[in-house]
Formats: sequence, C-alpha cells, structure tokens
Amino acid sequence: MHGQGESQGQGGAEGRERARGHANGRADAGLEAPRHAEDAADAAAADAGAFATEAFLARLAPDTPLRLAETATAGVGMLHALVTQLRPSSEEFRIAIDFLTEVGHYADARRQEWVLFADVIGVSSLIERLNHPRPDGATPNTLAGPFYRPDVPELPLGASISRDGRGEPLVVSGRVASLGGAPLAGARVEVWQANAEGLYENQEPDRQPEYNLRGRFVADGEGRFHFATVRPKGYSLPADGPVGRLMAALGIGLERPAHIHFRVTSPGHETLTTHIFDGSDPAISRDAIFGVREGLVAEFRPAASERGRRRYTLDLNLVLCPQSPQRMKETGRR
Ligand SMILES: [Fe+2]
Repeated sequence: MHGQGESQGQGGAEGRERARGHANGRADAGLEAPRHAEDAADAAAADAGAFATEAFLARLAPDTPLRLAETATAGVGMLHALVTQLRPSSEEFRIAIDFLTEVGHYADARRQEWVLFADVIGVSSLIERLNHPRPDGATPNTLAGPFYRPDVPELPLGASISRDGRGEPLVVSGRVASLGGAPLAGARVEVWQANAEGLYENQEPDRQPEYNLRGRFVADGEGRFHFATVRPKGYSLPADGPVGRLMAALGIGLERPAHIHFRVTSPGHETLTTHIFDGSDPAISRDAIFGVREGLVAEFRPAASERGRRRYTLDLNLVLCPQSPQRMKETGRR
C-alpha cells in the first residue's frame, strides 16, 4: 500500500474519533444541548441528536480519507446539534431546503450566489483570515473580491488609471516595505477600484473603457509608487436574490464602504491582497463582507480644488511579510 493509501486507511478511524469530539463538544459551536434538561422533551431531543450522530459515524468506511471523514462527521454532528436545539417543523425544514435550492439556481458563470452567501455571513472573511494570518505591523490580507482582472497593462509611475476622467480627482501615493521597514524596490503593485458611481469597469463594459480604474505599477528604488485616479464610491452587493432577501429579513445591509483594492508582490515575500477603505464612508463600520480591519482604513484628504472640482490625496504604507519556513511555522501555516 502506498503512502496515500496508508493515510487513507487510518482516516476513517481517526475521523470518527475526532468527530466524536466534535459531536460531544457541541459547546464549541455554541450549540450545546441542555445538560440539565428540565423537561423530558428536551432530554429526548438530545438523545435523538446524539443517536443520529453516532449512527452516522458508525457508517463511515475505514478507508475514508482523514480530512473528508473529519469534515463530514464534524459537519453532520453540528447539523444534528442544530436540529436538536431548534427542532424545526416540517414546514420550516421545507423553507430551508427551498432557500438552498434557490441559492443554487441563482449561481451561474456570471453570478455566484453561494459565494455571496459565504461572504455576507462572514465565512469567506474568516477563511481568508485563518489562511493568511499577518503579524502586527504587517498590512492585513483580505479577499480579492469578484472584480479582479489579472491581465491589466503596466503603466508608468504617475499615470492616471481613470480612462474616462469621470469623478473627483484623487492622487494616490504609497510606499511598499518589508516587515521591519526595509523598502521593497521594484515591488509590483496592482490596483483596481469602482468608479464614482460604485461600479467596476467589468460590470458595465458598454459604458466604461476597457481597463478603466485598473493599473499595474512597479515601485521605484525606494519602494515608492504613485498614480492618479478618481475617488471611488461604495456599493451594495446584489440584493435581488435569495441571499439578499434573507439579509433583508434579518435587517442586515449589503453595503460596502468605498475602497481601493491592491495586490502587491515582491520576491521573497508573501503576496499581499488587500483593500484600503475610505474612513469617512458612512458604511465603514458595517462592511457587508467583514473586510474592514485596523490598518486598512485611510483618510482621503481634501486638496486644493481645480476648476471647481474637489480633489483628494491618499498616502499609504503597505507592509509585506517575508516568506520563510520560520515565518510559516510561526503562523501555523502548512
Ligand atoms: Fe471592491
């Protein structure tokens, strides 16, 4: 048996053990069954939940791959605990199934309603945070979002990324450094943003020029970069589908505060994908996808107006983490 087979052979047994831990540790998920049930119905529900989980675990094949066994049993155990706690009626169960079905029907090549669902309940942001931890002093990593394009032409430092000139002028200047402060000469800086109406170029290809408000720059010998653009506006995530309707029922908004996206690469460093948010946006404290973090909120400073148009400046420091085995060990990455 080859190595993979060996690990798979142990997977079912280990998975079951870990899963029992999950099933018995419902408190981990905030779904603890009543320990001192005051009525027989509660006790019977708890027993039924535990029985359902045990019955599922007993069916796992011994050669189930470890990660699959762990994931399936933890997920099923938590679902049993949820059902035990909430005791949904048959009608409520049908409503839940209808919601999940509708989410699936809304997902296609142009729109991913499942990702939207994960975003607005904070799962996408949590996964990003767990996979890309950053130490104090480094710029936090965030989701890239759905509007990134990798094929944007490089522009000289100082160029404007506004290809239609619509909006309030904004000059962005920044410095890319390594953790510890050393400038990263030649760092590659990709930038993309929504326009003054909160729309990305690839959302309205018939109205905005190709590559509008997108650019790729190479930092100078001191890690500095600068470019001209227009002040972005915040926007709302799609509200016309099942996820939007669920959030409306919960009273949760879908606004995203105004921001500019950056992706920065430099040899020997972990790629930084992040947003810089406009701290004056009224939605700054309620970003729909939970992307606002300390260190990512900046001031778009007013500058002298030009021909009656308001102008702004934005100054940034973007700090990358060195890529090293030690660093990976420290952050628990595998
Ligand atoms: Fe965005």
